[in-house]
Amino acid sequence: MKALICPSLGPAENLKVMDLEPPVAAPGEAVVEVAYAALNFFDTLIIEGKYQVKPEPPFSPAGEFSGRIAALAPDVAGFAVGDRVMGWTGYGAAREQVAIAANRLAHVPDGLPLDKAAGLSITYGTSLHALKQRAEIKPGETLAVLGASGGVGLAAVEIGKAMGARVIACASADDKLEFARRYGAAETINYATEDLRGRLRELTGGKGVDVVYDPVGGALTEPALRSLAWKGRLLVIGFASGEIPRPPLNLTLLKGCDIRGVYWGEFVSREPDINSDNMSELLQWAEKGALSVHIHAKFALDDYKMAFEAIAKRQTLGKTLLAITEA
Ligand SMILES: NC(=O)c1ccc[n+]([C@@H]2O[C@H](COP(=O)([O-])OP(=O)(O)OC[C@H]3O[C@@H](n4cnc5c(N)ncnc54)[C@H](OP(=O)(O)O)[C@@H]3O)[C@@H](O)[C@H]2O)c1
Repeated sequence: MKALICPSLGPAENLKVMDLEPPVAAPGEAVVEVAYAALNFFDTLIIEGKYQVKPEPPFSPAGEFSGRIAALAPDVAGFAVGDRVMGWTGYGAAREQVAIAANRLAHVPDGLPLDKAAGLSITYGTSLHALKQRAEIKPGETLAVLGASGGVGLAAVEIGKAMGARVIACASADDKLEFARRYGAAETINYATEDLRGRLRELTGGKGVDVVYDPVGGALTEPALRSLAWKGRLLVIGFASGEIPRPPLNLTLLKGCDIRGVYWGEFVSREPDINSDNMSELLQWAEKGALSVHIHAKFALDDYKMAFEAIAKRQTLGKTLLAITEA
């Protein structure tokens, strides 16, 4: 089988498409023929050894995928060969077949295409966990999403809207904001050309925002924290800007507000039943069309460099897929 391999830590140019022996299902596992593997921003970090998860090379990138079950260990119940599934691995999905614990798979409903299902687990899973279990967002609250056109950002816009929040999309370019508006943002702020804090104050009539969703970090976090309402919540999702911010903690005292960390991978390991309920909810929303799971582009496995480049250059809107066994 063909597999995209990271043979040693380094930039995407180091990756190679190689021929490997197909995997065999160990006890508790299924082998899935991968239709699509979805790439995320963290894939650009993991291949360089700069992410919090540091697999030993050689390994395949891509932490989420969709496909069809090709084989099952005898002890696995609830799945059959040929079933359409989606799943999450952390890394290792950019290959024609993947062996995976069956409890990391979910059935894809008939009404949902496999390309959309591929990008649903990590980004949408993160944003639902963030807004539901961490922020405990309520209908009518305001939600400011930074990096609103990216993978987790767009998911937060769509899920926030589905949960009844008033979404303010914040991004670095007008076309990105227009895109976020198409998927549910009520208001937009271009933080490359406008003052984030001033505009958030203006859009909330001076009250401040109830929840900030922050996957960018760097210079944006402090003005966002300063823009929270009384008892607001700032969700720490990630640091796509490359800088971990150090905001003054007196702000939390003054606003009676919270800075809440979100780590979806750890949540999945520690609270698998709640994650499983979240996945069912996401799949239902996606099947009904309440979530777009917008696909920026599908790249053939051999065109992996273009896929990594698009993410690193901040060009992607929504999900970037590697089309592995389907076009
Ligand atoms: N906590 C968790 O459980 C969890 C789960 C998944 C992902 N994450 C993290 O969330 C972050 C975003 O992931 P993603 O997959 O959504 O990424 P993405 O699709 O590439 O989006 C990231 C967004 O960040 C903004 N950005 C600002 N500076 C950037 C830079 N120097 N390079 C690239 N983007 C930059 C861009 O928006 P603008 O141009 O509009 O600023 C971009 O749209 C990453 O740090 C990732 O590790 C965390």
